Amino acid sequence: MIRRTLAEAAKFLPETITAPRTDPIYNCHSYLTKVPIAAIQPFIETFTKPGDTIADFFAGSGMTGLAALTLGRNARLSDISALGQHIAQGYLAQAPSIAVSQAVDQVVRDARAKMGDLYTTTRCTDGSKQELIRTVWSFTYVCPSCSEQLVFFEHVSRGRAPRACSACDSPFARRSWGRAEDVPVETVVIGEDGRQLTQRASELDKSHIRRAAEDPRLHLIPSLVIDKNREMYSRSGLGKSGMTETRKFFSPRNAIALLELWRAINDVDDGNVRQKLRFAFTAILPRASKRYQWSAQRPLNAQNQTYYIAPVYYEWNVFDLFKRKAKAVMKATEVLFPPGLAEALSETDIDYQIASADKLRHLKSESIDYVFTDPPFGSNIFYSDMNLFHEAWIGTITDASAEAVVHTTGPRKKDAEKRYEQLLRTSFGEALRVLKPGRCMSVVFGNSNGKIWGLVQRAIRDAGFNSTPMHVAILDKGQRSIKGLNSGSESVVTVDLVITVRKPEKGESKQGAHDLRAGDTAELISEAITELEAVHTTNPSQIYARILQKAINKGFVLDNLHLSDVLVALRSSGFSVDPKTGRLSRQWKDDRLRMATI
Ligand SMILES: C[S@@+](CC[C@H](N)C(=O)[O-])C[C@H]1O[C@@H](n2cnc3c(N)ncnc32)[C@H](O)[C@@H]1O
Repeated sequence: MIRRTLAEAAKFLPETITAPRTDPIYNCHSYLTKVPIAAIQPFIETFTKPGDTIADFFAGSGMTGLAALTLGRNARLSDISALGQHIAQGYLAQAPSIAVSQAVDQVVRDARAKMGDLYTTTRCTDGSKQELIRTVWSFTYVCPSCSEQLVFFEHVSRGRAPRACSACDSPFARRSWGRAEDVPVETVVIGEDGRQLTQRASELDKSHIRRAAEDPRLHLIPSLVIDKNREMYSRSGLGKSGMTETRKFFSPRNAIALLELWRAINDVDDGNVRQKLRFAFTAILPRASKRYQWSAQRPLNAQNQTYYIAPVYYEWNVFDLFKRKAKAVMKATEVLFPPGLAEALSETDIDYQIASADKLRHLKSESIDYVFTDPPFGSNIFYSDMNLFHEAWIGTITDASAEAVVHTTGPRKKDAEKRYEQLLRTSFGEALRVLKPGRCMSVVFGNSNGKIWGLVQRAIRDAGFNSTPMHVAILDKGQRSIKGLNSGSESVVTVDLVITVRKPEKGESKQGAHDLRAGDTAELISEAITELEAVHTTNPSQIYARILQKAINKGFVLDNLHLSDVLVALRSSGFSVDPKTGRLSRQWKDDRLRMATI
């Protein structure tokens, strides 16, 4: 009965779910590869009813739990991520805005007082004392031929990258030139007209910076080592830059401001208010660090998948960042717990455990009505390595020994793919165990490598789910970084799929369990490209996702269906990818010319 109802309900789910990453909840606290709750809600509404219990065992920042909460469902969340648990609990803490706002004022007042005058500067137009809004810092490079120093900002602020050493004309190369101390180049304060005023970094600024660098409180900054066995150590070139500890990512001045703020927050009496402030605090860490990238037009966000520091970066006033973030946190809390509904929602039971997805011992068999989950995508992102940056402050660390990622370097490279496959297979086995018979699991997945897709398909099938999916949706979270799009690298897939499968009823044969078959994927690619002119598509990822969707619905195994093949086929059909926007375009003129020549 349920089986038919769910299958029928699935027919009303759209084939493409569009949920841009712009809502106040999504943007409140970053976490790698969050799924916006608007993308999860249609699935929960389709496959459950109010009061049901949903599980997500790769829960990350807990978006499935928040989506469940908004719809009056319970949730059992788990992940190995200490940071994920901290974020989810921060979202879920219920504290009145007025209490949060008063506490924010108090902690900022206390921390400012302890900070002293380290953020103070002189406004160049009238000599008045001002608190800095931000300072711009630049890498300094050293010419390998003559040791002349080159301040990177002096060139890029004039709109062009440095070409050569000003003293000996040796060609400039970022990778091979050594580095000297970073230098402050500009400061920004409020001008006499109330607008932001940019001025050169002064001697007073430099003396405050020197004083901060000798401050004994620097020894108290919470920090974790990012050791060379971590994948992100080599991927982010940390050995070369010496950034092997999380505290090094903060200027001494910002490290002291953060420390004083963190201490004041941890002294707040009310547990829920404290939790909200701790949440707002960890939310500002990337921007409070050297990872906040300068750009001539407007600040570029920190790259949250890597430890990259741009050659020109910001040292942003921590107190301003925190006050602004606290406002966003209060807004998100009001969206999540609308006035009038807050009491009813607090009845909903959302629990978050630290557990590996392959060992869900805290969940009873056949106790869950629906699973919505989003496992790591192969070797794309190393969550536990990136979590260290925040976890140094929250004081608990992710145990990465069971992390479901495919290592590409270091001691865990050996058999990495096998381990990943085994972990997914056992995790889906656990999902099958905890689900009630006949109920569904939706898995979000995105990768540009067909081999990884095939591995996921087999893991779902071998766990015992019906491998013919009940529904396959394209999840479009909007355009992300398009860097490297032409190379077809894994990280550029901007579209994921949501594959929904069903646990067989008791006594029902595992119908369709072994019918994954090799299909003509080349034909699917050429079909998709032929259809392209009639369909509104924006980038190669979307075409790839549509091809995958078709192939899965036909029961094809995806091992040989790679994004790179789609890119090659697109190019040979006359399409090109705009390197700036990542969008596809076709050379119509050339095409007509070619047709005419033929
Ligand atoms: C794609 S993210 C999930 C993000 C989540 N959907 C959200 O909205 O924040 C994948 C998550 O899997 C977690 N993970 C990796 N290995 C795991 C394991 N063995 N057991 C449980 N979680 C794991 C990572 O810590 C990460 O949080």
